[in-house]
Amino acid sequence: MKRIIEVELKTRVVDFAECKTQMLVVGQFSDAKRLDALNRELDRRLDGAIERVIGLGDFKGKQGTDAVIYGNGRIGAERVLLVGLGDRKKVAVDTVRKAAALSASKAVGMKVQTMALAFHGVFMARLDLELVAQAIAEGVYYGSYRYDEYVTSDEDGRTETLLVEVIDNDAAKAKQLENGLARGAIIGKAQSYARTIANRPGNVINPPTLADEAKKLANGTPGLSCEVLDEKQMAKLGMGGILAVGSGSKTPPRFIVVKYTPKGSAAKLPTVALVGKAITFDSGGISIKPAKNMEQMKLDKTGGAAVLATVKAAAEMKLPVNLYAIVPAAENMPSGASYRPGDIVTTYSGKTVEVLDTDAEGRMVLCDGLAYAQKQGCDIIVDIATLTGACKVALGKYMAGLMSNDEQLSRDIEKAAQTSGEKVWPMPSGEEYLGDMKSKVADLRNLAGGSKYGDACNAAAFLGQFVGEAKWAHIDIAGVDYLEKTTEWSAAGASAFGVRLLTTYLVNLVSKKGRK
Ligand code: BES
Ligand code: MN
Ligand code: ZN
Repeated sequence: MKRIIEVELKTRVVDFAECKTQMLVVGQFSDAKRLDALNRELDRRLDGAIERVIGLGDFKGKQGTDAVIYGNGRIGAERVLLVGLGDRKKVAVDTVRKAAALSASKAVGMKVQTMALAFHGVFMARLDLELVAQAIAEGVYYGSYRYDEYVTSDEDGRTETLLVEVIDNDAAKAKQLENGLARGAIIGKAQSYARTIANRPGNVINPPTLADEAKKLANGTPGLSCEVLDEKQMAKLGMGGILAVGSGSKTPPRFIVVKYTPKGSAAKLPTVALVGKAITFDSGGISIKPAKNMEQMKLDKTGGAAVLATVKAAAEMKLPVNLYAIVPAAENMPSGASYRPGDIVTTYSGKTVEVLDTDAEGRMVLCDGLAYAQKQGCDIIVDIATLTGACKVALGKYMAGLMSNDEQLSRDIEKAAQTSGEKVWPMPSGEEYLGDMKSKVADLRNLAGGSKYGDACNAAAFLGQFVGEAKWAHIDIAGVDYLEKTTEWSAAGASAFGVRLLTTYLVNLVSKKGRK
């Protein structure tokens, strides 16, 4: 089985024009009147090639565009990649991340193995250099990632390593970049981990094998421990929600908990639970889905993958926070043993739920995950799930839906969205939506009565019943967890949405300056 590309990130103190590399990357704003000093010097040595490509209109500096110029022996690099940075006034951390992602994606496509990035300087007037460096690292991992572990014959082949150097002629600045690069590499690797777990098909990742992956993760990362409940243990605890969903499958459900305990006095620190939906394949069960696009439902575990990756990143960063990654994992299949419409199940919380649609299974596993988090006494609970097609219909593929019972938590997540580039949009929930979820024969029903519209909001209202007094937020990633087509910045497939968002949220939570 092929491994994903191995990225190495470094800084190097070297003159830009002299730097020996297969590809030197520089940036250009779309509204720049002239070349900046760095590009002017390169242009001079390249006999005006940069001015020519711009003059001909082949490259306008727009975001998501690039131009390749070949070296002539008078610069150290074999080629120069000009990356469009868009409008200077619109610069954000994500501009940097996207520039790095595009560069890394190009490098992989061109089979370039050494790349020198020299565009950080143009952002320094507007952005914190450490954040710039972090975004560069995140972008490099994001853009270079390819999911091809099962491809055994590929005519084009793929390189196995990519060395990325962020170069500067100023040693002090290079030093400053290092912290951000290290943090970004941790997040970038976690992101790739989540993508691989999520991209693996249902015949490879099922609840028990996902549990094995979680154990492996915990064993390989200091500060983490892993506990896995099997179906018998879940039955003893009365986790009727997850057991019902998993009942139709040959591979039994698993309740996965990875805990991060920071070194030192953990008592005073906040305790946060991240609960991620992990339906390793969602066929819909007895309320079976149409065949078209059903293969995409191998991705119904992206929430679970995101929280496993986040707890890994938090531990590697040694964040001062007690953190649970709670992953209720089940496969939703039709069979003679499946749960059925009309069933009434008693969930871990003690609340009973009338099942009206076995395809509304996410809420059935999450209610047990949330109740578990609440019973651990977590102060803050954030769940992330490919919960509803309705959220995808409402928000499309660029933003996740955000529901919360706490304004500060909601603001904190929105703030993390700004720098992480994983955008969220506030969605309503509450009393009226909860009213629709009341059952005549049980405490709740898993599908709204009265209206088929607004299922994202109804589902959130349902989940809100299982968190007690904890501060809680729900992130519906049904529209954003995977890319149907390859973009300038990313290969198609799982996006790992939530890994950057949640790690950024946690980093801000524990650093006073991050909160307002
Ligand atoms: N996993 C799906 C939601 C989903 C749909 C995610 C499309 C990504 C893309 C979820 O389990 C589901 O099937 N939801 C149903 C709920 C309905 C039966 C109330 C849906 O949205 O159709
Ligand atoms: Mn479903
Ligand atoms: Zn689902």
